[in-house]
Amino acid sequence: MKPELILAPSMLSADFKNLSEEIKAVEKGGAAYLHIDVMDGVFVPSISFGMPVMKSIRSATDMVFDAHLMIIDPIRYIKEFAASGADLITFHLEAAEDPQAVIEEIRKYGCKAGISIKPGTPFEDVIPYMDKVDMLLVMTVEPGFGGQKMMPETLDKVRAARAYVTEKGLKTDIQVDGGVKYDNIRLPLEAGANIFVVGSAVFGPDTYGEAKRFSDFLAAQ
Ligand code: DX5
Ligand code: ZN
Repeated sequence: MKPELILAPSMLSADFKNLSEEIKAVEKGGAAYLHIDVMDGVFVPSISFGMPVMKSIRSATDMVFDAHLMIIDPIRYIKEFAASGADLITFHLEAAEDPQAVIEEIRKYGCKAGISIKPGTPFEDVIPYMDKVDMLLVMTVEPGFGGQKMMPETLDKVRAARAYVTEKGLKTDIQVDGGVKYDNIRLPLEAGANIFVVGSAVFGPDTYGEAKRFSDFLAAQ
């Protein structure tokens, strides 16, 4: 069966003085997930936002809250992100001492679990967790900032992951994040990704229109 294709706008590129309008615009534009990038200034150089922001926007939308934790030792914060409204919690393989324990912690609070790998981490490293998570996030840029250019070589890992999921008959979603634009989304799509994080290419002067353009494209596949 063909996996469902999902648009996940990354809130990092939103206009924060109009956050609730921005969120409603992507929802109206057809996005099913809201991708929420949490950065700690240690695992990645920048700092973004955390639980209080997630909690306060929870009532603004019914979209799936897709929390991308770019933080070291993520197990410390799973409970709080779950309580703040996360539906899916993704942590970095590189940031966790015991990835299996993090997955169990995420499940303990009733959330879906995702695991992510940076551009330099081979797909092989994540294979032991592929049947234990709901989603693999293959970073297509170095995590830390929006607005970077997609690294095409990371798509080989998307191809390897899709082949693995198909071969093993798994339902694991494959998400890509970083540098996805309207004119290159076909590349990760053809490589086998089915959830597309889009930040700077969606949020802007016509957030609704851009979200709709991406959603319509995915719906037409
Ligand atoms: C980068 C974040 C991304 C980022 C994507 O570390 O994980 O989610 O916001 O932004 P664009 O689509 O602009 O590359
Ligand atoms: Zn992200």
